[in-house]
Amino acid sequence: MRIDIITCLPRLLDSFFGQSILKRAQDKGLAEVVVHDLRDYTPHKGRQVDDYAFGGGAGMVLMIEPIARCLDTLRSQRRYDEILYVTPDGENFTQRIANHLSLKENLVILCGHYKGVDERVRQRYVTREISIGDYVLSGGELAAAVISDALIRLLPGVLSDETSALTDSFQDDLLAPPVYTRPADFEGMKVPEVLLSGHEARIEQWRFEQALERTRQRRPDLLDERA
Ligand code: ADE
Repeated sequence: MRIDIITCLPRLLDSFFGQSILKRAQDKGLAEVVVHDLRDYTPHKGRQVDDYAFGGGAGMVLMIEPIARCLDTLRSQRRYDEILYVTPDGENFTQRIANHLSLKENLVILCGHYKGVDERVRQRYVTREISIGDYVLSGGELAAAVISDALIRLLPGVLSDETSALTDSFQDDLLAPPVYTRPADFEGMKVPEVLLSGHEARIEQWRFEQALERTRQRRPDLLDERA
């Protein structure tokens, strides 16, 4: 999978993609994340990428030309499955969307800034608009990082234990069950006996029941979605 991220603050993303699982996925050739500085594509002097909104009002708007130039360059090089725009008025990002997008070959994520992008960018280029939650960030970079992380960790071979992404919270519209590691007894707080029993079927059953109970208590709305 290749993800091209278009931003006017590329440095913000460097450390995120340069560490841990995301770095390993890239080193192993399983994912490629390429960050593009919008300012490299602007025809305007002083590397300007934004301007005042027509009609007035506070806040700057990202101009269409640098975005168009960047997207035209990328699209001349490969076919993109989706051009995502991250924005608080997009559809809510869920594990289901992550699963779906993780099967794609080439994605663009366009980050807004300030007041967002000129509406004509959305009309002409964007194929899907995604929000990572009902709050407003100062730019789309964190949203692009969140989405990329959620997709890349699903790619086969990225996580060392192949099954561990499948048992994440939300994968069956259930939250994950509690987990424990050593010591088996911490100051009298004991690990549930069944987990030490070595009895795989009973452990599976226990985990399912715990997942169901946790979901019932914390996110009953997910159980409605299962029905
Ligand atoms: N940009 C600013 N806020 C955002 C949000 N909540 N989700 C996605 N992109 C954003």
